[in-house]
Amino acid sequence: MDPVVRATQLEKKYGRLTAVDRISFEVRPGETFGLLGPNGAGKTTTMRMMACISPPTSGDLTVLGMDVRRQSRAIRDALGVVAQHDGLDPDLSARDNLIVHARYYGLRGSVAGARADEVLEFFGLTARSRDEVDNLSGGLKRRLSIARAFMHRPRMVILDEPTTGLDPQSRNRVWEQLANLKQEGVTIAMSTHYMEEAASLCDRLVVIDHGRILAEGTPDALVREIAGAQTAMLKVEGPERARVVRALAERGYQAHGRGMLLAVHGRDGDRPQVEGLGVAHVIYRPSTLEDAFLALTGRELRDE
Ligand SMILES: Nc1ncnc2c1ncn2[C@@H]1O[C@H](COP(=O)(O)OP(=O)(O)OP(=O)(O)O)[C@@H](O)[C@H]1O
Ligand SMILES: [Mg+2]
Repeated sequence: MDPVVRATQLEKKYGRLTAVDRISFEVRPGETFGLLGPNGAGKTTTMRMMACISPPTSGDLTVLGMDVRRQSRAIRDALGVVAQHDGLDPDLSARDNLIVHARYYGLRGSVAGARADEVLEFFGLTARSRDEVDNLSGGLKRRLSIARAFMHRPRMVILDEPTTGLDPQSRNRVWEQLANLKQEGVTIAMSTHYMEEAASLCDRLVVIDHGRILAEGTPDALVREIAGAQTAMLKVEGPERARVVRALAERGYQAHGRGMLLAVHGRDGDRPQVEGLGVAHVIYRPSTLEDAFLALTGRELRDE
């Protein structure tokens, strides 16, 4: 089957800054595709090009088999888009926000009303449907902005950090809803900073930083290739730290600082060999996507 999104040498420049640096990737039909990357990595820029909100500087990009430069109107009609910052109308009720939005897609009158009620129900918003958006909590607003993207039954949705700022309950609710939509065959492309979200929802991930792709694959494959099956957490404080880091380097391991601890990743299925270094407190645990992400993208802060 043809990919739903195909990016080839896709580039976006803002003046002298290259936000997306000739990346190539595909999104396949029906999959949930995740973009991971630190602040300023180029996730939003990439998704805005996919949503035909911002044109590429160079390279090729097709969405649902259509060219973003020549067929932007048709692409916009077929997509649902949830931006990083929701553009809800604060003076309208939750339900009217959905109905007004649906007009752009030709849904009107009782059809739009019935669809709004269906979507509100699906996203657990029925009880608040008459409330002004201004009176909703941040989490409810986020859910409403996701609900809005589904009014016109899109074949594909693009969600930029759908659960940022949500409490664990709301986040889980959104995850369930996204999993249901996937079951219905909707293709999902999303960005996130939550590794658990990426690991549990996404079939395939691309990790980007400074506008470039650092790694891609299934969550399991990324973890295993980059952080191995097992990670050792070593508690080493003060001047001991430098000695242990050096001793680990001699054994071919890179130590990653995590607060007061050092993380050491194994290779493939092996446990990292950290015995005999004079470290009293060592805990072994399965490696996680967060381990892989930090190993790939390093520790310095971004976009400051
Ligand atoms: N409209 C713009 N004009 C100029 N520079 C921009 C613009 N939009 C984004 N940038 C810059 O492009 C780079 C990529 O930004 P982008 O918003 O795509 O990152 P991101 O991965 O979505 O980050 P975050 O996790 O913080 O949302 C950053 O350096 C950012 O400052
Ligand atoms: Mg962003």
